[in-house]
Amino acid sequence: MKLWSRVTLAVAGMAVIWLCAVKLAGPAAAQDKAGQTKAAPAPAKAAPANTQTVAAAPGQSAGEVFKNVNTSTLKGLTVDDFLGAMGVISADLGLDCADCHPGAGSDKVDWIFDTPRKKTARKMVEMVAVINRTNFSGAQSVTCFTCHHGRLRPSTTIGLDTLYGTPNEEKDDFVAPAQGVPSATQILDKYITAVGGAQRLAGLTSFIATGSSVGYEGLGGGGSFTIYAKAPNQRTTQIQFKDHPERGDSTRAFDGKVGWIKSPRSLLGQYELTGSELDGARLDAMLSFPGQIKTILNNWRVGSPDSVGDKDVQVVQGTGPRGFMATFYFDKDSGLLVRMVRYSTSPVGRVPTQTDYSDYRDVGGIKFPFKYTFSWLDGKDAFQLSDVKTNVAIDPAKFAKP
Ligand code: HEC
Ligand code: HEC
Repeated sequence: MKLWSRVTLAVAGMAVIWLCAVKLAGPAAAQDKAGQTKAAPAPAKAAPANTQTVAAAPGQSAGEVFKNVNTSTLKGLTVDDFLGAMGVISADLGLDCADCHPGAGSDKVDWIFDTPRKKTARKMVEMVAVINRTNFSGAQSVTCFTCHHGRLRPSTTIGLDTLYGTPNEEKDDFVAPAQGVPSATQILDKYITAVGGAQRLAGLTSFIATGSSVGYEGLGGGGSFTIYAKAPNQRTTQIQFKDHPERGDSTRAFDGKVGWIKSPRSLLGQYELTGSELDGARLDAMLSFPGQIKTILNNWRVGSPDSVGDKDVQVVQGTGPRGFMATFYFDKDSGLLVRMVRYSTSPVGRVPTQTDYSDYRDVGGIKFPFKYTFSWLDGKDAFQLSDVKTNVAIDPAKFAKP
């Protein structure tokens, strides 16, 4: 199932990170990608010495960069959005990359080769586009998940255990405005008050947070991290693995306009964010300074009250550019943010990234979540902060291309 062979960097912090490189191995121009998700026996490999690693230039579409990408909806995507779509397909069908691309995660992979399953998947990508166009006025009502629900072959008959079992608790992506709930402004203002109040938050101009990251099932954890954040919209997360220096430092940087991923052991080494993932990086950076939360997104709406774990929550959703959106779950009692799920878009379904916040502690009158868990389609990491220093000078180079 979902093993290390996924092409991701599990440890870089704040987003789904699909890395990509084009390996030019002589005239045959084979393509390859590699990544790392795992601490110990991860067989992520360095580029063989005789190959050249080339990054896709920002602005180049997946159809241009890859040799055999030709579906009507996927070929025009940026490379990282295309790989996001591959992540959605894998998750929706309960597959790993290698289930359609034999050898993925090893030197032997041939991404271009069409297996029967890959051919079926290509047909299904077109089918989904047609279903939505002809039945749902082009809205993305049907995705791979609608039928597959994590299975390779969709089930066709309801199981009686399901019928009489616990009710289905899947949540809607899109939060429909509910009646009789507080306004978004009221909920967001309560949050601002809960973390320190507008005045104190306006005085927060930067911070540096340090701590350790703990992976789940040995994936991605075991590092120490530093977060640099500068108001209003710059944020960089650096992760070091002291016990595994061979993994190198991983960096995720957003300078207010441009975002970068550095993942030393991937073939690419580093990558500039484009497309939907850039909107995610911006949101994460701006959310570091909660006083401005109301300006981060538009069209705020409040859904029906819900619960996250044992907490009753208020649900607020906002929309960003290009179909990007994020849902915020605020503790009904304390007003603090418990969970944020942001959704990037893809033609085969939205790409969810979730952060859960807890252990809020006071730092100079402002509450910081000292613990957060970061989940995306390919991994889950827990971050434990040990120290936060506010209003410190930060070298601008920290936010630039790593
Ligand atoms: C269910 C099958 C399926 C799974 C699982 C899958 N892919 Fe794909 N992959 C495809 C299809 C279909 C295409 C061609 C898409 C097109 O023509 O638009 C493709 C194309 C690609 C390409 C372009 C290859 C080339 O050079 O033409 C890359 C790279 C890729 N996938 C990476 C991945 C990664 C990384 C994963 C795991 C996260 C993954 N795929 C999982 C079906 C799959
Ligand atoms: C309307 C429902 C529906 C949607 C939406 C749908 N599928 Fe399917 N898919 C099916 C059914 C039904 C089968 C099984 C067909 C069979 O039994 O031969 C299937 C089979 C497949 C298979 C072959 C599985 C195998 O046995 O190897 C792949 C791959 C696949 N789908 C990929 C996708 C992808 C990728 C998407 C989204 C782009 C998608 N499907 C969306 C209904 C759907």
